[in-house]
Amino acid sequence: MSNLRIASMVGARPNFMKIAPIVHEIQRTAGIEHRLVHSGQHYDQQMSESFFEELHIPKPDVNLEVGSGSHAWQTAEVMKRFEAVVLEWKPDVVIVVGDVNSTLAAALVASKLGVPVAHVEAGLRSFDMSMPEEINRKLTDAISDLLFVTEQSGIQNLRKEGVEQDRIFLVGNVMIDCLVEHRKIAEKSEILRRLGLQEDGDKASAYGLLTLHRPSNVDDPAVLRDILSTIATLAEKMPVFFPVHPRSLERIRQFGLGSYLAEEKSGAAARGIVPLPPLGYLHFLCLMDHARLILTDSGGIQEESTILGVPCLTLRENTERPVTVEQGTNQIVGRDPKKILAAAALVLGAERRAMKAPELWDGHAAERIVKILLEKLRPGLLNKPVPESSRIDSKS
Ligand code: UD1
Repeated sequence: MSNLRIASMVGARPNFMKIAPIVHEIQRTAGIEHRLVHSGQHYDQQMSESFFEELHIPKPDVNLEVGSGSHAWQTAEVMKRFEAVVLEWKPDVVIVVGDVNSTLAAALVASKLGVPVAHVEAGLRSFDMSMPEEINRKLTDAISDLLFVTEQSGIQNLRKEGVEQDRIFLVGNVMIDCLVEHRKIAEKSEILRRLGLQEDGDKASAYGLLTLHRPSNVDDPAVLRDILSTIATLAEKMPVFFPVHPRSLERIRQFGLGSYLAEEKSGAAARGIVPLPPLGYLHFLCLMDHARLILTDSGGIQEESTILGVPCLTLRENTERPVTVEQGTNQIVGRDPKKILAAAALVLGAERRAMKAPELWDGHAAERIVKILLEKLRPGLLNKPVPESSRIDSKS
């Protein structure tokens, strides 16, 4: 029986921690040939390469080097360049993860060429079509053959959209696989000491952690100003560290909002919103794990904070990840300053809220995904032992 040929597409920062556990599971499994394709949507050392290094993801077999551009341009360029890869290598299945432009582009190419598409993180819905990711999610799911879901809401959403039950698989969460594998390693990060938040062995002093990059929050000067001014009020009591996404940095400069950011002071002296460059995975995981409070508009951080048990205030009007609110530490607070400050005061005054890990968020999602791919596409290869000689070593 021939090997199963899998091509995986990654493009932007949140894709990298989702593909890492899948790539590693593929390396541990016999009978699979794998090609990792990077669209080049994110290209900076800090937004891309550092994740490959820290997570021991092998260097991509192909880099499409698309770079930044409008959504239509970026999606179209990924499609044009990825089509050539699929035609040349002829994979049996294409894996796409998450909801970025590269995800949709790769799914479209594969499905038009008749290659089955497996979507990891399928079924999430914010029901907000002004979010580019919601468009990407709905369209990707509509043309995917195997839908790997992280939470019950995903199953319900897909069923309502007419997807047959036998194509939907609740497998857990690959982003949490990555977290579970790296949490202890992240403890060795020197970031807390570098920021003066921890002396040797002591508990870290109280701080908040902020991330912001959604177009709806950073592309409108009045909205961005209101958010920064609200967080600056909160940051009078304890420093709020802000690793700034390139898009947000550009907007803060463009709109002249730099005065809301503090000097990059560290330790007890630090107050206000303290800007940092985008951080690598391990430093950021360590900062999340020890934060008193996280404020974010990211999807993935809502999930990570749930497992870490750190209170999270989501600066959006909705979430496509309702389980993080129902069982986790997440609250959707929107952008109303009063609501944000009231929620923060409550959280800071209370004991940490207990959370229950969502179903199957146990660090084994990638194993389930690879097993299902084999069952569906090459059942004869299941449980074949991995010959030492055929193991692909991760480039670490
Ligand atoms: C993309 C994803 C978003 C994801 C986010 C994580 C889409 C529609 N959006 O948004 O879902 O949460 O990644 O970061 O796919 N830039 C750099 N260096 C880079 C990459 C980008 O400086 O390596 C700058 C460029 O000015 C670029 C801007 O950031 O124009 C935005 O990048 P882009 O990939 O278009 O979207 P993100 O906002 O990062």
